[in-house]
Order: sequence, then C-alpha cells, then structure tokens
Amino acid sequence: MSTTTQCRICAGTVREFIDFGRQPLSDAFVVPGDTQEEFFFRLATGICDTCTMVQLMEEVPRDRMFHEAYPYLSSGSAYMRTHFEELAKRFLATELTGEDAFIVELGSNDGIMLKAVAEAGVRHLGVDPSGVADLAAAKGIRVRKDFFEEATAADIRANERPADVIYAANTLCHIPYMDSILKGVNTLLGPNGVFVFEDPYLGDIVERTSFDQIYDEHFFFFTARSVQEMARRHGLELVDVERIPVHGGEVRYTLALTGARKPTNAVAELLAWEAERELSEYATLERFATKVKKNKEDLIALLTKLRDAGKRVVGYGATAKGATVNNFCGITPDLVQFISDTTPAKQGKLSPGQHIPVHEHKQFADNYPDYALLYAWNHADEIMNAEQAFRDAGGKWILYVPDVHVI
Ligand code: SAM
Ligand code: TMP
Ligand code: ZN
Repeated sequence: MSTTTQCRICAGTVREFIDFGRQPLSDAFVVPGDTQEEFFFRLATGICDTCTMVQLMEEVPRDRMFHEAYPYLSSGSAYMRTHFEELAKRFLATELTGEDAFIVELGSNDGIMLKAVAEAGVRHLGVDPSGVADLAAAKGIRVRKDFFEEATAADIRANERPADVIYAANTLCHIPYMDSILKGVNTLLGPNGVFVFEDPYLGDIVERTSFDQIYDEHFFFFTARSVQEMARRHGLELVDVERIPVHGGEVRYTLALTGARKPTNAVAELLAWEAERELSEYATLERFATKVKKNKEDLIALLTKLRDAGKRVVGYGATAKGATVNNFCGITPDLVQFISDTTPAKQGKLSPGQHIPVHEHKQFADNYPDYALLYAWNHADEIMNAEQAFRDAGGKWILYVPDVHVI
C-alpha cells in the first residue's frame, strides 16, 4: 500500500498499513424509515515515519460526530463507574489536596468521573460539546458544553485559575487538532500541574488484533514512544505511564511541564517493552493487518455456517467499535438478527451502514438466541457475569478478539 498523508503531530509522512474501505459514522444510528443519505468516509490507518504516531488517514469533521444527539453514555457500565470513582478518589488524595485545588476534565460525558469530585466539594469543570453534558449538569456537576481547544483553555484560565489536574479519558485520542489541545494545556496547567489521559493502547490493539478499536472517533492510537515525542514538541514531558485493563487494554499517561517532575521507571520500562516488540515498525503493523483480514474471513464463515444451520444469532452491545466489524466484515441482519443495547438513544434505531436493528435488553432476555456476538467484548467480565442465565439456557458467546472463537 502506498497511500500517504501528513502527520497531525509533526507534519511528517504517514504511511498507510490498513484500509477498511468506506465506513459510516460509528455512532450515527439510523431512525427506521429515515431516507436521508448516511455519511461515509474512507477508514484507513497509517504510521508517521518521523514521530511514529499511528493515526487515521482521513479526518471526519468533529461536528458530525459530537453533537446534541451523540448517544454514548459512560455510565452504561457498572465496572467503568467503579474505575472512575477510584481514580477520582486517587486525585482527591494526591493532586487535589491544595487550597482551592482545581481539576478540568475533557470529555466529561455524563459526569461519571467528576461526580465524586463534585460530591467532595472540590472545584472542577467538565468540558464536553455533546448533548450528554446536560446529564452531568443535572447531577450538579459544573460543565461547559464546548469543544476543548486553545481558545477554550484561555477562556477557562481567565475566568477560573490554573488547573492542578487536566484529565481526559477516551477523549484525547478522538481529537485530531492536537496542536491546539496541547497549547491549551500549556495555557491552563499550573506550574506543578499534571495532564493525565487514558486511551486504547496500540500495544494491546496489535497484541489482541482488536481491529474494531479503529473507527471514525478514534483518530490517534498512542504508544509511550509517540506520546513522549508529541509532549516534547509542546514543552511537556511524559512522566508516568500505567497500563490499565479497561476497554480492552489502555495506558494512562501523565504529562507535566518539562523539568517539573521526575519521570518514573515505568516510562523507561514501557518504552523498552515497545522497542522489544518493534511496535512502531511498519512490518509489525503489516502483520497486524494480515491477521485482521483472517479474523474477518473467519467471522463471516462462522456466521454464515450458523445461519445455514438455522441457528439464531443476536449481537450484544451496539458499540461504536461494532460499526467497523459490521461494515468491514459485511454482517447483515440475516446473520445477526438484532443487537441488544441498554442505551436509550440507540434503541429502536438501526446500526450505521448495515442497518441491524437495535433493541432493548428485554428482547434478548425474553427469548435467548443460540449465540450472542459480543461486540462489547471490552466489558466481557461484567456482561458474562450478568448473563449467567443465558449460559444456563445453553447460549454461547461468539468473540472475534483476539481471534474468532465460541465460548
Ligand atoms: N470520558 C468518558 C469515558 O471515558 O467514558 C467519555 C468518553 S466518550 C468516548 C468521548 C467524549 O469526548 C464525548 O462525550 C465527546 O462529546 C467528547 N469530546 C469530543 N471532542 C471533545 C473536545 N474537543 N473537548 C472535550 N470533549 C470532547
Ligand atoms: P463501549 O464498548 O464503547 O463502552 O460501548 C458499550 C456499549 O454496550 C454501549 O452502547 C452500552 C452497551 N452495553 C450493554 O448493552 N450492556 C452492558 O451490560 C454493557 C456493559 C454495555
Ligand atoms: Zn509525526
């Protein structure tokens, strides 16, 4: 493959290693009967020859993804609620102990993390452009319904005070205009403040062949190496990393102003781990692309075999990730009859592109299928524990990460 584009971090050359073809917006669920044409773009990923940042080859305008009707609710998972409560407690006990301490969260969504901070009476501000910000505000959380960028940061700094913590979960990787974000972080962060963010880790994506982490909203796929280089270009330093088991494997990165804090051993260790695995080598990513194609073939072969044998297959979790699976693999409603999902804004709609109906969980529980295709595999422990009755009734789970298998 020879397609290239310009790196959004360093203006170097980005070389493509995988092409998923034409894809719809992953969270644009369709109202049945709506005749408006869906938006499609070319979903492909490459690596920068210079700074090693892995990124999408084509960018979707942000207003098409993050708007009033953006459906994703962070609080849809009980495990994630605990994850963010624990982190809030940790911030409250460490970075936020000073007088009038201040935390700003980018992508605060329905307030899953800031709730505990607000309840502790600590100064905070969530920034999120989507309709879900209203849900956070209704919980008593201070929210600015806006895109975070350089100008927003300057405005917050002028009206509030320097931040002790700027935090973003599953949001920084959604933002192609990183230059503006990191300038904003520099403006807003206090001299000893930290910028902490957690996102899906390229190391896990490659190890687990979790190709469905690649979709419109996930623009960047970070590594310690690429984040270190990105930070350096903006007077920031990578001072800590922590591998975390949520969402199929993420890394929590901590940046500080250059020289303000001593990097932990964990940074050097993760950099060494990445180098040993040749994570930023083009050949490694080409091997990943080969495995992805095999997963696609195996999944379609299995679903076709089950349909021809008269088995009922239903999807579990109408995830954004599922858009890549359905549209790349060509999964149609004759293969997966419907997808069960607990999110009100997705129910009664059709999945983007392939138009598989999304139903409330009751439809799954009232009439168990023979097989459930687990699109929300990143919540597997939580879901499988909750669905013991499905297993007891003879139901089986289909997974496609790290390879196609039935359990
Ligand atoms: N932090 C939550 C979590 O981890 O569950 C929500 C993550 S959600 C996948 C991404 C969120 O980022 C959305 O709520 C979206 O509206 C928000 N977002 C997108 N661009 C943003 C920006 N420039 N500034 C702040 N939030 C943004
Ligand atoms: P995510 O993988 O991006 O977090 O999306 C998970 C999707 O799965 C979201 O639409 C909510 C849905 N879901 C369920 O339907 N049942 C569940 O038990 C969980 C944890 C998620
Ligand atoms: Zn670059």
